[in-house]
Amino acid sequence: MLKGRHVVLGVTGGIAAYKCAELTRELIRRGAEVKVIMTESAREFMTPLTLQTLSGNPVYTELFTLIREQDIAHIALAEFAELMIVAPATANVIGKAAAGIADDLLTTVLMAMKAPVLFCPAMNTQMYGNPALQENLKKLQAWGYHVLPPASGPLACKAEGQGRLPEVTAIVEAAVSVLTLKDLAGEHVLVTAGPTREPFDPVRFITNYSSGKMGYAVALQAQRRGARVTLVSGPTSLPPPDGVEIVNVGSALEMRDAVLSRLAGVTVVIKAAAVADYRPAALREQKIKKKGGSLTLELERNPDIIQEIGRKEGRRIIVGFAMESENLLENARSKMVEKNMDLIVANDLREEGAGFQCDTNVIKILDRKGNIEELPLMDKAEAAGRILDRVRALLKEKKRGRRG
Ligand code: PMT
Repeated sequence: MLKGRHVVLGVTGGIAAYKCAELTRELIRRGAEVKVIMTESAREFMTPLTLQTLSGNPVYTELFTLIREQDIAHIALAEFAELMIVAPATANVIGKAAAGIADDLLTTVLMAMKAPVLFCPAMNTQMYGNPALQENLKKLQAWGYHVLPPASGPLACKAEGQGRLPEVTAIVEAAVSVLTLKDLAGEHVLVTAGPTREPFDPVRFITNYSSGKMGYAVALQAQRRGARVTLVSGPTSLPPPDGVEIVNVGSALEMRDAVLSRLAGVTVVIKAAAVADYRPAALREQKIKKKGGSLTLELERNPDIIQEIGRKEGRRIIVGFAMESENLLENARSKMVEKNMDLIVANDLREEGAGFQCDTNVIKILDRKGNIEELPLMDKAEAAGRILDRVRALLKEKKRGRRG
C-alpha cells in the first residue's frame, strides 16, 4: 500500500519527535519515499542528520531554499506529496494551521498541500484538553484534514493521561487508511478466520493448521476500504485489527451460532475459516486415561455454516474458500455451486507459499459465470485486496441490476 508512495513527514517540537526516527524507518521499510521537514523547535529534540540518514533524502528546514535550481521548497514538497503526516503535531502547529498562518517551511507546505494531511497531536494532557486546541482540531477535521487522536498513558512531563504520540504501527496504519479509497463504505462485511477446535475431553481437541492470517487480512483490508467489519475468529495468536468488531469462538458450532446471529444487515460474507467438518460425537467430562490398546473416537458431522447462509433469505454476496490437496478447480467449483456462493477462492495445499500459516498465498478466484482469475504468489494482504475488488464489482452489478 505504501510501496512507491511519496510521503512528506513534518516533525514539530515535542519530546515525541524522537519517535520520528522509527516512523521514518517504518515508512521506508514499507516502500514509501519519505521527505522530512523539521521546524526549528523539532531540531532541539532530534538532529536533521538522523532523519536525513534514515530517509535517504535531505531534511528540509528553511522556507527560503531552492531545492533544484528553480524549485521553491514549499511548492516542490507540496507537489511531491501523496500524503503528509505531521507527527508529533504540537498545539502550536495545529493552532497555526487552523488559523491559516504560514510563517515557516512546515506551515507554508501545509498551506500549499493538495494531498491528504494526517495530524498526530502529542502533548501534555491539559494542553490536549484545552478548548482552543479542541476547537482547532474540529476546524481542521471539518476542512478535510485527518487527525489521529493521541494515546493514553504516562507522559514525558510525568503526568498520566491522553497525549502520547501513538505507536508507530498505529500511525502507519492510519496513514494507509487515509490513502485507501473507501469503496466499501456503507457495506457490512462479516469475515470468518482461523481454525475451529472440536474438543473430546477437557484437555484435548481436533483442529487444523489454519493461523487465521488469510481471514484477518481480508478483515483489515475491508475495514481500510470503509466497510463495517465483523470478524468471527477461531483460536489464533493474531491481534485483532483496529476498528474491527471481533467475536472469538472455539468450535464449529460456536462459529455457526456467532455467524447466524449476526447476519442481519450484513451485505457480504467472506468465509476464510477452516471449519472442522466433523466433531467428536461425545465430549467426556473427565480427561481420557491412557490404557493399553487403541482408542477409537466416533465423529459426527458439523453443520455447514456457509451452506446455511446460502439458503437464507436476503441477497448478500457470499464468498467461500476452498483448500484442496487434489483437483483444486473441480472441487472448488462444485463447492461453490453446492453451497450457493457467488465466488470461491481456491488455494492449493501442495503449492509453495500458498495456504496455511504463511504470509503469502496463491489464489484462484472462480465465479458463477465460469471465469477463473489465476493470481500469482502475493502477500495475503494483497490477495485480500484482489478478493475485495471482485466483491466490489459484484456489489456494483447488484446495485445496477436493482436500478435497471
Ligand atoms: O488461516 P491461514 O493459515 O492464513 O490459512 C488460510 C486458509 C488456508 C485456511 C484459507 O485460505 C482457506 O482456504 N480456508 C478454507 C479452508 C477449507 O478447506 O475450507 P473447506 O473446503 O473445508 O470449506 C469450504 C468453505 O466452506 C469454506 O469457506 C469454509 O469456511 C466453509 N465451511 C466449511 C465447513 C463447514 N462446516 N462450514 C463452513 O462454512
